[in-house]
Amino acid sequence: MTNRIPLMAGNWKMNLDHLEANHLVQGLALALGDAGHDYAKCEVVVIPPFTDIRTVQTIVDADELGIKYGAQDVSVHDNGAYTGEISTAMLTKLGVSYVVMGHSERREYHGESDALVGAKARKVLDAGMTPILCCGEALEVRKAGTHVEFVLAQVRAALEGWSGQDVAKIVIAYEPIWAIGTGETATAEDAQEVCGAIREALRADYGDATAEAVRVLYGGSAKPDNIKELMAQPDVDGALIGGASLKAESFAAMAGFY
Ligand code: G3P
Repeated sequence: MTNRIPLMAGNWKMNLDHLEANHLVQGLALALGDAGHDYAKCEVVVIPPFTDIRTVQTIVDADELGIKYGAQDVSVHDNGAYTGEISTAMLTKLGVSYVVMGHSERREYHGESDALVGAKARKVLDAGMTPILCCGEALEVRKAGTHVEFVLAQVRAALEGWSGQDVAKIVIAYEPIWAIGTGETATAEDAQEVCGAIREALRADYGDATAEAVRVLYGGSAKPDNIKELMAQPDVDGALIGGASLKAESFAAMAGFY
């Protein structure tokens, strides 16, 4: 029996302008309200593009909603001549609780290394927000059968030099690249295999308290149809949801998996 609170996080990626964001968050709040959602049983987080965060903040604050919000990336720099970058201070000022780093789309299109991903996670934690550290293998790695080693190496490289106390505060999202946006979901057993291996690696490196505290999410074509089975796995503590988080009804249904 664990006391980790399940977490459903909707990664909107590069979708929705601020008006559409307004519509989606209002719709989500209504759908969750109608369903009598208990936020103590499942935390709900929306992760919009930077340009929508202020809008989301305004709705959440005005209506005192239980929904939290995050950002999809952050700079490792404090401020200064870094055109196009967003700092942790800018995010905390907007009430952001979670920040994603190391998403496979950023690793692939922006060449982000494990070291950079780890530095971003450190920066976010130091600023008082919660990092959502993404990892996951490509199809070739999965076919070669080396996915567990590959993912553990990514996690360990990003967290090199961290204390168990700090690691205990992060969220890890396992997202097999071949299952992202493809409709191809990893089976619940596939998700458990890797999420469980991540937890066991944390146990080996930092001990029981850290391993039991870290929430490990699954991401990759998670949807209302498969969420129950995924959430029934002992080491899957929630989901990082792309496509299905863009519709209030489907996201709300997933948050109510219990
Ligand atoms: O970060 C979420 C993600 O990459 C999964 O996307 O659309 O397959 O749910 P999707």
